[in-house]
Amino acid sequence: MTTSIIELREVNKTYSTAAGDFVALKNVNLTVNSGEFLGIVGKSGAGKSTLLNMINGVDELTSGEVFVAERTDGKALSVHDMSEDARALWRGKNMGVVYQSFQLLPMLTLVENIMLPMDFSNNFHPRKSRDRALELLQLVELEEHANKLPAYISGGQQQRVAIARALANDPQILVADEPTGSLDSITADHIFDVFEHLVVDQGKTIIMVTHDMGLASRFSRSLTLADGELLDSQGDSKFDKTTVRRR
Ligand SMILES: Nc1ncnc2c1ncn2[C@@H]1O[C@H](COP(=O)(O)OP(=O)(O)OP(=O)(O)O)[C@@H](O)[C@H]1O
Ligand SMILES: [Mg+2]
Repeated sequence: MTTSIIELREVNKTYSTAAGDFVALKNVNLTVNSGEFLGIVGKSGAGKSTLLNMINGVDELTSGEVFVAERTDGKALSVHDMSEDARALWRGKNMGVVYQSFQLLPMLTLVENIMLPMDFSNNFHPRKSRDRALELLQLVELEEHANKLPAYISGGQQQRVAIARALANDPQILVADEPTGSLDSITADHIFDVFEHLVVDQGKTIIMVTHDMGLASRFSRSLTLADGELLDSQGDSKFDKTTVRRR
């Protein structure tokens, strides 16, 4: 049985600029099922990062609705109704975010970088967070580097640490914006293996943006975004509207 975990309805995003309004997303409808490894492909400027930022609540939509199922009871939370602060809190606990540029803190060791989101969210006791961070480093096969600073490991290794950090609070959903964009193809392949493992063995749902059409065959589904429009058709909504909770 498939259950939807993310749903976007008629999402529009307009940026106001000095040169006038710019429509970055046009009537986007999207249903993502639990356990999918969804790829979003499209040219530079197509709106891929904007779309991810609507899903993880980094940015505010102009109109439309974004629902994300909550881990505990499967009820859908309306992300579009939350304040910026509420979204930030929610994201920290419920979504793992991975960027092209890794974004590790340079003065913290690898294990400390992974502990940080746990310590911020209070999801784990501080005594537990180090053990959990070490387990996550083991998952990405970097445990022997735990006490190094990010500058002393390779780009591919840094990205694996960033993935481990994204998993810190055990989110159901990971969103990754061009996570392999600055890596060579062999290293990119290895990062892909890590994501596949998380989907297949841990049941995570992953949405990944990429320029690289060659990777599209490795997703369980891929959709193309062009000029702010999703080109491929979507499945029917599986969220029961009566279970949607407002905050
Ligand atoms: N804060 C902003 N203000 C105004 N326009 C913006 C802003 N952010 C993005 N845009 C515009 O919205 C469009 C979509 O941007 P977005 O960053 O989502 O594209 P993208 O598909 O992620 O591109 P890339 O592959 O280069 O990362 C672009 O034309 C961009 O210039
Ligand atoms: Mg982008």
